[in-house]
Amino acid sequence: MDSLGSMQVAIKSQDEQEKMRLAGRMAADVLDMIAGHVVPGVATEELDRLCHEYIVGTQRSVPANLNYRGFPKSICVSANHVVCHGIPNEKRLKPGDIVNIDVTVIHDGFHGDTSRMYFVGKPSVQAQRLTTTCFEAMWRGIGQVRPGARLGDVGHAIQSFVEEHGFSVVREYCGHGIGRVYHEDPQVLHYGEPGTGIELVPGMTFTVEPMVNAGKRHVRLLPDGWTVVTRDHSLSAQWEHTVLVTESGVEVLTLAAHDRR
Ligand code: MF3
Ligand code: CO
Ligand code: CO
Repeated sequence: MDSLGSMQVAIKSQDEQEKMRLAGRMAADVLDMIAGHVVPGVATEELDRLCHEYIVGTQRSVPANLNYRGFPKSICVSANHVVCHGIPNEKRLKPGDIVNIDVTVIHDGFHGDTSRMYFVGKPSVQAQRLTTTCFEAMWRGIGQVRPGARLGDVGHAIQSFVEEHGFSVVREYCGHGIGRVYHEDPQVLHYGEPGTGIELVPGMTFTVEPMVNAGKRHVRLLPDGWTVVTRDHSLSAQWEHTVLVTESGVEVLTLAAHDRR
């Protein structure tokens, strides 16, 4: 036990890193596959069905969200003022909606976790600005990741960028270590002070997944026990990557196919 409590951060072996690469690539492939289906009139449960079929039937993998702590579907679909953990249902997307799809694939025992924002038709200028700011904030956080940096550097980079743009960072949910276990140490806060928190070491794998609200940061859990919404009903955006700390910096394990080299 140290000043950070009982935090035990696993260091992945070369073999485990290779399995994380594969799981991460598969999760990204699901988000690539679904992009063309996120259109006006599609029911969110149809998006869930397509992702489930692809993960199970094509990838021969396991959708980690399904039955996770009782979650009833294979992906989370969070539209507009839904912050995260939206449950796919019969409701149809409409022009102007902004939607986060969050998918986690288990392949060969390892998890890959990623989410992106999608526009349904043409978004408002504010929705576009929010989405872009959240995306850029995630990348500023990832940009801090290297051996010797601290998790507080990541959180600070995200929070300061978001707040400079007049938006707010959700505090109740954070990034997480990931591997054979879906959510493991460390907690990756999307706010904080530089130079604080645990020091990053090569072989660590974790997610960076800021949730950014157009209004105030506060959230409310709906009676379904899952759906998280902004308390002031303002729009919310989220992007998520799974990353690996390398000797030289960071490797993003969940890049879209067109961003890989
Ligand atoms: N994928 C989410 C995360 O980024 C967790 C979803 S859990 C679920 O950590 F049960 F809501 F699916
Ligand atoms: Co996720
Ligand atoms: Co995650």
